[in-house]
Amino acid sequence: MNTPSNPFLISGYYSAEYFCDRKTETDKIRSALTNGRNITLISNRRIGKTALIEHVFNRFRGKSNAGFIHIDIYPTQNLTDFLSALGKGIFNSRSSKTTKFIDTLMRFFSSIGATIVYDAVSGQPSFELKYHDPKRTAKSIDHLFDYLEKSGKQFYIAIDEFQQISNYPEKNVEALLRSKIQHLKNVHFIFSGSHKHVLISMFADYKRPFYQSTDMMFLDSIDPVIYEDFIFRHFSNARRQIKRESIKLILEWCRNHTYYVQYVCNRLYANNSKKINDAEVLAVFNEVLEETKATYFNYRNLLTDAQWNLLCAIANEEHAAMPTSAKFMKKYNLGGPSTINRSLNALLDKEMLLKDEKGYFVYDVFFSRWLEKLQ
Ligand SMILES: Nc1ncnc2c1ncn2[C@@H]1O[C@H](COP(=O)(O)OP(=O)(O)OP(=O)(O)O)[C@@H](O)[C@H]1O
Ligand SMILES: [Mg+2]
Repeated sequence: MNTPSNPFLISGYYSAEYFCDRKTETDKIRSALTNGRNITLISNRRIGKTALIEHVFNRFRGKSNAGFIHIDIYPTQNLTDFLSALGKGIFNSRSSKTTKFIDTLMRFFSSIGATIVYDAVSGQPSFELKYHDPKRTAKSIDHLFDYLEKSGKQFYIAIDEFQQISNYPEKNVEALLRSKIQHLKNVHFIFSGSHKHVLISMFADYKRPFYQSTDMMFLDSIDPVIYEDFIFRHFSNARRQIKRESIKLILEWCRNHTYYVQYVCNRLYANNSKKINDAEVLAVFNEVLEETKATYFNYRNLLTDAQWNLLCAIANEEHAAMPTSAKFMKKYNLGGPSTINRSLNALLDKEMLLKDEKGYFVYDVFFSRWLEKLQ
């Protein structure tokens, strides 16, 4: 396997070498899954849920002959799409597709209206859901789970962006999935997503089918001390000198938010300097903001003046605990509390703002840094 040309990945997962820490979380997930408890993994966007799932599976893989299925249901819009995603996941879970495996699946998939098709050029087989009657979808999902149950092996299934099922038009989707999942002894689940409120109410509201059916895990930022070592090590491995202070500057500027830290380090690494100083780090910050500014200007056109002004004010504070307080409104000349509340809701809805225990903040770190510079 080739090693990545840049150790700071900005998408996906490669191996433990390029993955920082998450030891406690990995152990916790592993312990839950191997002891018959499913997990719900929640964090803000781009903190590292998907990569963590891949890391956990990667660690497991070497030690067992279980099946690992990781599906992202963000693009799915209904139960039939879900069925298709799950079918693909099952098909792709075996890297070496022996004739025996394909034969078994062929027979099985045809019973749910799916086929295995072969790419005309590469000859690679793939799963396709053809001629499927939506009325049979629920039954077909049952069949897929039956297949896993009867396989006689352990399966670990991660369903990324799980909150998406609450948007499906079909009725009782949660009840349907839950009733099937709870009987599966050999299939273990990670449900993951970034829509905190939707997921919490799905798993913690006693009226909902998934109520208390999983361990809840909230993924926080990576410990900055450990992240600093990780960054230092990767620059050193490539014989590049970088001061600890410069790394602290990156972590602070990126608010220790995984994707943004990775992105800045990736750019800095790509510069190929043997000795990196603060001026070079600051230049990378500026380049990134310069390149994304067209997108940010476009956001300006999508928002009302009140929403834009509020966004700028919150970016300036980094965290705004009480944006409707007299002090905050006066400082930024924002109008009355009802206007602010309306803007807050609109911006939360558009996911431009998020809220945590410290208050409201602009979710996209680069956008937030760019807004700050406008003041
Ligand atoms: N522990 C880690 N060490 C190094 N890089 C990481 C780590 N965790 C995540 N990353 C990188 O950070 C980026 C964001 O991670 P990831 O896509 O897993 O986040 P996410 O929480 O699933 O985001 P989203 O909510 O948008 O799906 C990716 O480029 C990933 O490679
Ligand atoms: Mg993800």
